[in-house]
Amino acid sequence: MLNFSYYEDTFDPGAPRRKKLRPNYKPKRRREEIAASLADKAAPTGDGFNPTFSASRHEHEWIVNYLGPFYDDHQITDVLRLVKGGKEANVYCCAAHPALGAELLAAKVYRPRMFRNLRNDALYRRGREILDAEGKAVRDPKALVAAAKKTSFGQELLHTSWLAHEGNTLRLLAEAGADVPRIFARGENAILMTYLGDRDSPAPTLNHVTLPPRRARPLFDRLLHNVELMLAHRKVHGDLSAYNVLYWEGDICIIDFPQAIDPFTNPAAFGIFRRDVTRLCEYFDKYGISANAGQLARTLWDKHVVAKQEPELPTEDVEE
Ligand SMILES: Nc1ncnc2c1ncn2[C@@H]1O[C@H](COP(=O)(O)OP(=O)(O)OP(=O)(O)O)[C@@H](O)[C@H]1O
Ligand SMILES: [Mg+2]
Repeated sequence: MLNFSYYEDTFDPGAPRRKKLRPNYKPKRRREEIAASLADKAAPTGDGFNPTFSASRHEHEWIVNYLGPFYDDHQITDVLRLVKGGKEANVYCCAAHPALGAELLAAKVYRPRMFRNLRNDALYRRGREILDAEGKAVRDPKALVAAAKKTSFGQELLHTSWLAHEGNTLRLLAEAGADVPRIFARGENAILMTYLGDRDSPAPTLNHVTLPPRRARPLFDRLLHNVELMLAHRKVHGDLSAYNVLYWEGDICIIDFPQAIDPFTNPAAFGIFRRDVTRLCEYFDKYGISANAGQLARTLWDKHVVAKQEPELPTEDVEE
């Protein structure tokens, strides 16, 4: 099958060659072009949409562009506050439309790809298909070549694909019963999902919480249950740590999935999986929960991947 990896290998096998192909590479100009084109593509809508959240002019436009369609579609009625400006996205707390049966929703609006700071994103793209805004695999060879060559258009495709992977993964895992936010809607550059927290305070991430000692063990078990459930559904989070687990009303909710990988198609998947498990174990170690992360990861991997795998995938090491 001709997927993105094929085109990447053909046209973009490594940084040195990429440099040669683009002697006049000017990252700054390209960033601006891509930002402009992303902004153009999001037709400003949101007639009558006047968010309560007071933002700078630039951020206001950003919000109206990307969250306006949710307002038009009667999914949100207001944007109340910025929850957090992350490295990849801004997350806003929104008032939900009464028809949705939730009071508040979280809207994650992605920054243009070039503002992202994910270390070594190619590692996560290996073995993954390029997805369009609807979450369907892109098959057009020209588009795949553009992505592999990282033209402006190709960068846009990769950006869209990145967020489509998060939407698809969240949908799949919520249906599988994992502790992840439920997706209510997907836009061109945003997702709308369950909000954890209340109006005044969003749920903290686990790294900001001191757990009641008796809650540590059940929560650790719960997280491992989620890790196993994901693996059984061909997903490895890829950036799992206390920073991407919300803690609310005594329970956990795992967030932030754009880099999730398929354990059967990414050659570095076991290393990435083991790192996820290790980070969880390290967090809970301070609560006196001792676990052998390497052994745990291997046992789960053998059960859900090796046992179902044919033929055997080569494995690669990943920096811890
Ligand atoms: N569904 C949600 N409900 C409440 N808060 C949320 C929700 N999703 C995300 N957040 C908050 O927004 C922050 C950023 O979200 P997320 O981790 O998905 O994006 P990111 O760009 O990868 O951010 P970071 O660089 O901080 O990891 C989270 O750390 C969390 O505080
Ligand atoms: Mg995060």
